[in-house]
Amino acid sequence: MLSIENLTVRYPKAKEDALKKINLQVKEGEFVCILGKSGAGKSTFIRSINQLQRPTSGSVRWNHLEITRLKEAEMRKVRTDMVMIFQHFNLIPRMTVLQNTLTGAFGSRPAWKNLLGLFTAEEKQLAYDALSEVDLTAHAHKRVEALSGGQKQRVGIARALLQKPKLLLGDEPVASLDPNTSKRIFELLRKIHEERQLTTLINVHDVSLAKAYATRIIGFRNGMLIFDDKPSALTDDVFTKIYE
Ligand SMILES: Nc1ncnc2c1ncn2[C@@H]1O[C@H](COP(=O)(O)OP(=O)(O)O)[C@@H](O)[C@H]1O
Ligand SMILES: [Mg+2]
Repeated sequence: MLSIENLTVRYPKAKEDALKKINLQVKEGEFVCILGKSGAGKSTFIRSINQLQRPTSGSVRWNHLEITRLKEAEMRKVRTDMVMIFQHFNLIPRMTVLQNTLTGAFGSRPAWKNLLGLFTAEEKQLAYDALSEVDLTAHAHKRVEALSGGQKQRVGIARALLQKPKLLLGDEPVASLDPNTSKRIFELLRKIHEERQLTTLINVHDVSLAKAYATRIIGFRNGMLIFDDKPSALTDDVFTKIYE
């Protein structure tokens, strides 16, 4: 379980808090979509969960462990439970799909092995399994730079799966993709969510995607959490509050 209390973030030199006393509990197996205008604090929020962004005050508990004040080395262990997918995929373009997927094993093995490209047969098999789950088996040996945007994000998801995550975080993972491709990515995320009961938190621009796929929607405005409910409760009034 993820438990966030009074989470506040102020960036250096900023006049205002980017996040203002956010309180939220997310149970195992929820699929939460996060809405808000540009600048509302969505990315800051996602990054505060895995401590890429340290809070100014407040706490984040992950399965009862307070993680906001953990040292970086301790946090690295916790972070192996958490994976992130990104708008611009964060892949290594000149490496193959398989090699990129294998970098998902980073958290659980010594870095020097990764640098030397030493992967065990078992690790490779796990990578092939992940690629099969995202329907990219046929592309395993292509360089990532040769893929379409949707395929690249599927590599991002395969790499995430290799880490056997308990929490999947997404920072606008479909913002660079066309509407049809975005829908297919969300279909895939839902399938993975259902099969693994993987707790999922994703920032998304497109309200219709949030309504179609989330089990719960939260809305930020100006650093404040102003909506937290089932997708069906997102009325036109709420929409206006979030976006205007
Ligand atoms: N690294 C940063 N340094 C200073 N201010 C930042 C930084 N990142 C974000 N901000 C500010 O914090 C607020 C929230 O930003 P962000 O979390 O990126 O919002 P969103 O993802 O919803 O667009 C904005 O006012 C933004 O300008
Ligand atoms: Mg953002």
